[in-house]
Amino acid sequence: MKIVSILGARPQFIKEAIVQKEINRTDNIEEIVIHTGQHYDKNMSDIFFKTLNIPIPKYNLGIHSDTHGIMTGKMIIEIEKILINEKPNLVLLYGDTDSTLAGAIAASKLNIEIAHVEAGLRQEPKTLPEEINRSLVDRVSNFLFCPSELSVNNLSIENITKNVVLSGDVMYDLFLYMKDKFDYSIIEKLHLREKDYVIMTLHRDVNVDSKKTLEIILKQISFISNQLKVVFPIHPRTKKRITQFDLEKYLYNVIVIEPLDYLSLMGLTENCFKVITDSGGYQKEAYFCEKEACILMQDTAWRELIQYKWNKICDVSNFKETVLSNCSKKYISNLYGEGNASKLIVNYLIQHYVSI
Ligand code: UD1
Repeated sequence: MKIVSILGARPQFIKEAIVQKEINRTDNIEEIVIHTGQHYDKNMSDIFFKTLNIPIPKYNLGIHSDTHGIMTGKMIIEIEKILINEKPNLVLLYGDTDSTLAGAIAASKLNIEIAHVEAGLRQEPKTLPEEINRSLVDRVSNFLFCPSELSVNNLSIENITKNVVLSGDVMYDLFLYMKDKFDYSIIEKLHLREKDYVIMTLHRDVNVDSKKTLEIILKQISFISNQLKVVFPIHPRTKKRITQFDLEKYLYNVIVIEPLDYLSLMGLTENCFKVITDSGGYQKEAYFCEKEACILMQDTAWRELIQYKWNKICDVSNFKETVLSNCSKKYISNLYGEGNASKLIVNYLIQHYVSI
């Protein structure tokens, strides 16, 4: 069987790293990888391929830094050409980015079957770019691999029940697989000590594209940074906006660093006090590291962690108390599978394609 996997953004490189390992364990699958180019800076893309041992993709489309429509449109055009040429049995998609949506549209119009890894997540408001992407992709997917029970239920509410598999979360697989290799050197490099710092990541358009909202968030961060060290691996989009809106003054006390590779971010997170983030994947990785996360979003696609009162949804104008308060919760058993999601996914696909 032949699979074309489509990647474009950081979280997809992370997911592919572990699924690809599982694919490579079998003789039955040939995998071709397309990188749309959505993330392209060295420390947003290349570094993940290097540190997670993912071979350079056969195709790199070099499409990035434009409106959703232009990027998605250009990606569809190029992905379609490759799919016509490669003739795969299946297109493998991850998550909820514009690259995911482009792959889904190109494949479904060519009647090529689609497997969606991280299916069934839902989040308010429905107008979020990621929410639009993931719900459209789930509509046209033939195999829906869900990371949690809640995501299976979400699909069932929408009458999507065929080939819906509770696989667990591939990011948890990678976390366990890479745990021994986490890189702690950054802690010393930044003169940090265990639990004396929080880590913040921020990149969502709703938080960084409006000067008003970004300023409200950074004011709180500035306050927190007077009490506790704040390490801020900064997304290029956020960096551009802070400069454009002239908000650097709020970062006076903040340790601003370039985006980190996976192993360094996990090493840093395992030793932090708390996490502040608007990233979907990172709020869950914080939980894998047994750290609480304050989520700067109105809602999250990982609602289990809210229900279990591990993570907290925070108002962007009032989160400093939540960040500075002591952690009181006991780590609960894992909500995202047994660390064998990739294996279940690959086995399910092999069985399906052998049986037809
Ligand atoms: C994208 C995904 C989001 C995911 C995130 C992970 C969509 C709609 N969003 O958001 O789901 O959580 O990736 O990081 O697909 N930029 C650079 N260098 C890069 C990458 C981006 O400078 O390597 C800048 C560009 O100005 C670009 C902007 O960041 O226009 C936004 O990038 P984009 O990929 O559109 O969205 P993300 O915010 O990264």
